[in-house]
Amino acid sequence: MCNGNPEQPLALYIHWPFCLSKCPYCDFNSHVRENIDEAHWRAALLTELDSTAREMPGRTITSIFFGGGTPSLMNPATVAALLDRTAKHWKLAPDAEITLEANPTSVEQARLADIRAAGVNRVSLGVQALNDQALKFLGRGHSAAEALAAVDTAARLFDRFSFDLIYGRPEQTVDCWSAELRRALTWSADHISVYQLTLEAGTPFHALWRQGRLTPLEEDAAAALYEVTQEILEAAGMPAYEVSNHAMPGGESRHNLTYWRYGDYAGIGPGAHGRLTLDGRRIGTQRVRSPDAWLRQIDETGDGMESREPLDPGAQLDEAMLMGLRLAEGIPETRLRGIAGRGFDDAFDPARLSALIEGGFLDREGGWLRATPAGRTRLNAVIAHLMA
Ligand SMILES: C[S@@+](CC[C@H](N)C(=O)[O-])C[C@H]1O[C@@H](n2cnc3c(N)ncnc32)[C@H](O)[C@@H]1O
Ligand code: SF4
Repeated sequence: MCNGNPEQPLALYIHWPFCLSKCPYCDFNSHVRENIDEAHWRAALLTELDSTAREMPGRTITSIFFGGGTPSLMNPATVAALLDRTAKHWKLAPDAEITLEANPTSVEQARLADIRAAGVNRVSLGVQALNDQALKFLGRGHSAAEALAAVDTAARLFDRFSFDLIYGRPEQTVDCWSAELRRALTWSADHISVYQLTLEAGTPFHALWRQGRLTPLEEDAAAALYEVTQEILEAAGMPAYEVSNHAMPGGESRHNLTYWRYGDYAGIGPGAHGRLTLDGRRIGTQRVRSPDAWLRQIDETGDGMESREPLDPGAQLDEAMLMGLRLAEGIPETRLRGIAGRGFDDAFDPARLSALIEGGFLDREGGWLRATPAGRTRLNAVIAHLMA
C-alpha cells in the first residue's frame, strides 16, 4: 500500500465523458449517448474516488475540476454526491476552488442554481462565439442569446466564472474579432480562455480541410488575431498568464495552475490522468479511455486504472518544462533541482540556452526561466530546441 505525502496539496479532476452532440472541431474524450444510466455512473465514479482516497489519505484538496465532455449535463445530485464523498475522504482547503465546465444551453442554464447548491463555486462556460452564424459553423447546440443568458445567470450565482472563446475561424477579420472580444469583456468574468481554432486529426473539420472544403486562416492573419487578442485583453487588465488563458489578478484557475506548476493531481473517470507523489516517488496514472470499457472495468475490479508508471527524473523534467514554460511566470530553477537535482545550466546545453535567450525567445532572471511573448507563440519549437 502506497501512501501519499500528507503535506502535499492535491487537485482532483473528475471527467464526465458525455455531450448532447459532438462538435466538429473537438477531439476530447467526449461521446454522444441516447441513454445514460446515471445511477450506475455515479456509483462507478464514487468507487474510483474511494480507491483513490485509500491510496493517498490525509491530503488537503485545493481544487476540484469537473471537466468533459459536458459535466453540466450531470444531475446536480451526482455532483453533490461526489463533493460530499471527497469531503469525507480528505480535508478540503477553506478556499478550495471547485469548477464545473458548462455548456450555455437553456437546459444547462436552468441547472446552474442546483450546481451552485451542490457546492460548485466557479463555472467555466463554453461560449465559443458571440454570433449565431459562427456558432452554427462550430456546430454548437446553443444560440448567442442563450450564451448571454447563461453568462448573466453565472454572474448572478457565482463569485467567479470563466468562459471559452474560439477564434481564428475561417475568414474572421481583426475588426470582427476585436468587436466580439470587446463585447465579451463587458461581462464580469475574472477569467477568459481564448483558443485559436485547431484542426485536430480525426475530427470532421480536419476531414473537410483535407477535402479542400474548409480553408483555415493564413498564418499571418492568424498571427494578427493573436496580437490583437493580447492587446485587448492586456488593456482590459487580463493579461495572458498562460498561452491561452487570461485572468484578472487573482482570477487565475488554481486548478490548472497545479498542472502547469507540476503539482500533484488525481484524475477520476474515463481517460483521466494524474500525477502523484507516493512514497516519495512521482507516478503517472492513466484511466481507461473508452467510457464503456472504463465502466466495465470498475464493475469488475473496482478501479478504472489503465496504467500506473513511475516517472524517472528525466521524464519529469521534460514534463515540468513543457508545462511550466506555458506560464507567463515561467519555471523556477528550484523546481528543476527538486525534480532532477540539476539547475538550468546542467539540465540544458548551455549553447542552446544562450542562443534562445539571445534570440529573444527565453528570458532568465532571478532564478526563473520564462518564455518571452515571441517564445510563447512558438513554444513547441523553443522547447524542442532547448531539450534536444
Ligand atoms: C472540454 S471543452 C469545454 C466544455 C464544454 N463541453 C463546451 O464545449 O462548452 C474545452 C474547450 O476547448 C476548446 N476547444 C476544443 N477543441 C478545440 C479546437 N479544436 N480548437 C480550439 N479550441 C478547442 C473549446 O473552447 C472548449 O470550450
Ligand atoms: S467542445 Fe465541448 S460540447 Fe463540443 S464535443 Fe467537445 S466537449 Fe462536447
